[in-house]
Amino acid sequence: MATNTIVKELEMRREAARIGGGERRIEAQHEKGKLTARERLEVLLDPESFEEFDMFMEHRCTYFDMEGKKVPGDGVVTGQGTINGRLVFVYSQDFTVLGGSLSETNAKKICKIQDMAMRMGAPIIGINDSGGARIQEGVDSLAGFAEIFQRNVLASGVVPQISLIMGPCAGGAVYSPALTDFTVMVRGSSYMFVTGPDVVKTVTHEEVSQEDLGGADVHGTHTGVADMVYDNDIEALLQVRRLVNFLPASNRAALPVRPTEDPADRVEMALNNVVPDNANKPYDMFDVLRRVVDEGDFFEVNPSFAKNIIVGFGRMEGSTVGFVANQPMEMAGCLDIDASRKAARFVRFCDAFHIPLVTFVDVPGFLPGTSQEHNGIIRHGAKLLYAYAEATVPKITVITRKAYGGAYIVMGSKHLRNDINFAWPTAEIAVMGPEGAVEIIFKGKFDNPEDVASAVESYRDNFASPFAAAARGYLDDVIRPQNTRWRVCRALATLREKQLKNPKKKHDNLPL
Ligand code: HXC
Repeated sequence: MATNTIVKELEMRREAARIGGGERRIEAQHEKGKLTARERLEVLLDPESFEEFDMFMEHRCTYFDMEGKKVPGDGVVTGQGTINGRLVFVYSQDFTVLGGSLSETNAKKICKIQDMAMRMGAPIIGINDSGGARIQEGVDSLAGFAEIFQRNVLASGVVPQISLIMGPCAGGAVYSPALTDFTVMVRGSSYMFVTGPDVVKTVTHEEVSQEDLGGADVHGTHTGVADMVYDNDIEALLQVRRLVNFLPASNRAALPVRPTEDPADRVEMALNNVVPDNANKPYDMFDVLRRVVDEGDFFEVNPSFAKNIIVGFGRMEGSTVGFVANQPMEMAGCLDIDASRKAARFVRFCDAFHIPLVTFVDVPGFLPGTSQEHNGIIRHGAKLLYAYAEATVPKITVITRKAYGGAYIVMGSKHLRNDINFAWPTAEIAVMGPEGAVEIIFKGKFDNPEDVASAVESYRDNFASPFAAAARGYLDDVIRPQNTRWRVCRALATLREKQLKNPKKKHDNLPL
């Protein structure tokens, strides 16, 4: 065949791959407010950086007249590109080709980029928009899913894995995103569930819409499965670019550093007035976080789920730091099942990728109640304790106000191999609040309220200050709030070469 004939054929085949399921289906995709698989990659990646693999791969299914339904690329666009110049591997399911359903071929393409990402040490970003297993292929499709899941597990802790859900994601297909580090959903056009509304109706007689069963807000607010939820495809993709900017490329790569004009020794006088005089009055912990991080730039993870704890990324002197902070504005900042799970997952992600942890503490304890106890706060609370205790990255804690009881220990206390612990003068470190403590110690002993008040005062003097803990070395220093940024920056600089190893083992037995 003459070269120019081959080149013509190449162009023809490329065009066939680019058009996917055809103009009519592309229009239908747009009518649903969704971008196509290729348009999504254009938004996600730097201009001209996308390099496609396996554009000509086709399925080999011969059942149900499938020979006549071959589209080059077979319903998933895979390859590599860059985000702000840094390498990432991507796949984007094309709903216009057989509903983006996963075939044997399709899975091979995804597995190839998973393998490459692990070898090269670069993040994997998967864009999911699929009707699930390709029904015509039967078990070959299931095998394909299994191959992807296996690689998700092997890649966990090696390279960051991010899943965007931008359409249907149902049945076993949900387990790939669930195995990855961050799941992003789009309001109104994405849903995730193990069994859909029809099956739910048959089995439990409940009538529920796709949105109410597994829409973005359900997972962003109630289950925590979605780490981030956005209003449309473009916003979601741009925010993933922002997230990637904070992440190291792999567990063997250095943290990304973004040059900053924000001085490390910036003194923030406003921090002196954040904590109210009344210990029972809430304040917004974001006021602290935004004043401490470089340029006030904080990327929150799981913002709508378990709002009583804040987790997210910021930078200090240009380098990524993971922040965990109790939020006194929500449930007084107490720890409950959801907060423990949320923060534990975040702490473990940071530890896996050598991201230092800075913890801000204002915690009155664990949330009491039968609902918490019966749903397993013991096991779930242990997850956060475990995560902090096993983490070997630099760990810095700042206690702004309350640090009571078991929650004091859990939230990056000195006793869990924390490196540097500070407290503000407003810190109260005790087994419990003064009122509760007096009630127990002096049960039935006082007849009049004055005696109770004086016992409360005496307890407060002894324990509701940072000095009892500081006197024992459980705090390294009591600092003025205005100095928090530069003290934390200096502590991070001190800890840059920290070395700490856990005992050798096959793997741990995290309280799941
Ligand atoms: C093959 C599929 C498909 C699938 C959709 N299509 N899902 N083809 N296998 N799983 C095709 C349709 O035939 C149609 O082809 C096109 O994709 C678009 O589908 P529509 O139904 O027209 O779109 P829409 O109305 O938007 O509905 C989307 C949908 C629905 C909700 C996803 O298609 C659906 O319910 N599909 C089946 C979902 C399912 O049961 N999957 C298996 C789940 S079990 P044309 O040619 O008309 O464009 C599973 C197990 C995984 O995934 C286990 C892993 C461990």
